[in-house]
Amino acid sequence: MKGTAAFCFMLALLLAWPLAGGAAQDGPEIVTFQGKGRLGTVDFTHREHHELGIACLMCHHTGVEAGRCSGCHGVIDEAPRLQNAFHLLCTGCHKQKGGPATCGGCHLLLQEEEQ
Ligand code: HEC
Ligand code: HEC
Ligand code: HEC
Ligand code: HEC
Repeated sequence: MKGTAAFCFMLALLLAWPLAGGAAQDGPEIVTFQGKGRLGTVDFTHREHHELGIACLMCHHTGVEAGRCSGCHGVIDEAPRLQNAFHLLCTGCHKQKGGPATCGGCHLLLQEEEQ
C-alpha cells in the first residue's frame, strides 16, 4: 500500500511538472499573426521577448488572465483599434530599444519586397 501511495504521489508530481515548470504559464513560444492579404504573417517570438527582460504586464497591460488583445481592441470603444495597438506597442519599443521598426522587419511578405 505504501508503495502505491508513493507511486501516486510521484505520478501527481510528474503530471504537475509542465505547469510548475513555467512552459505553460509563460504563454506560447511563438505567436503567428495571420494578417490579411499581401503583408503576410508576423512571427512574434513571444518567449524570447519575455527572456529579454520585458515584464508580462508591459504587454498584457490588463493582466495575462484578460486573454487576447482582440478581446478588447476593436471591441470596446475606449481601446485603440487592434492594428494601432500592436504598432504602438511593438514599433514603439523597437524604436527605443532596437528591434525591427520598418514594415518588412515584421510583415514577412513585405520583407521580400524590401530586399
Ligand atoms: C514591430 C512589428 C511591426 C512593424 C514594424 C509593423 N507592423 Fe504592421 N502589424 C504588426 C502586427 C503584430 C499586426 C497585427 C497582425 C494581425 O492582426 O494579424 C500588424 C498589423 C498590420 C496591418 C493590418 C493587418 C494586415 O495584414 O493587413 C497592416 C495593414 C499593417 N500592420 C501595416 C504595416 C505597415 C504599412 C508598416 C510599416 C509602416 C507596419 N505595419 C509595421 C506588426 C508590425
Ligand atoms: C512583448 C510583449 C509580450 C510580453 C513581454 C509577453 N506577452 Fe504574452 N502575448 C503577447 C501577444 C501580443 C500575444 C498574442 C495575443 C493575441 O493574439 O491577442 C500574447 C499571447 C499570450 C498568451 C496566449 C493568449 C491566448 O489566449 O491565446 C499567453 C497565455 C501569454 N501571452 C502569457 C504571457 C506571460 C505569462 C508572459 C510573461 C511571462 C507574457 N505573455 C509576456 C505579448 C507579450
Ligand atoms: C480587457 C481589455 C483589454 C485587453 C485584453 C487589452 N487591452 Fe490594450 N487597451 C485597452 C483599453 C481600454 C485601452 C485604452 C485605455 C488605456 O490606455 O488603458 C488600451 C490601450 C492600449 C495601448 C495604449 C495605446 C496608446 O494610446 O498609447 C496599447 C499599446 C495596448 N492597449 C495594447 C494591447 C495589447 C498588445 C494587448 C494584448 C497583449 C492588449 N492591449 C490587451 C483594453 C485592453
Ligand atoms: C518593450 C520592448 C519590446 C516590445 C514591447 C516588443 N519588442 Fe520586439 N524586440 C525587442 C527587442 C529589444 C528586439 C531585438 C532583440 C535582439 O536583437 O536580440 C526585438 C526583436 C523583434 C523581432 C526580430 C526577430 C526577433 O524575434 O528577435 C521581431 C519580429 C519582433 N521583435 C516583433 C515584435 C512584435 C510583433 C511585438 C508586439 C506584439 C514586439 N516585438 C514587441 C523589444 C520589444
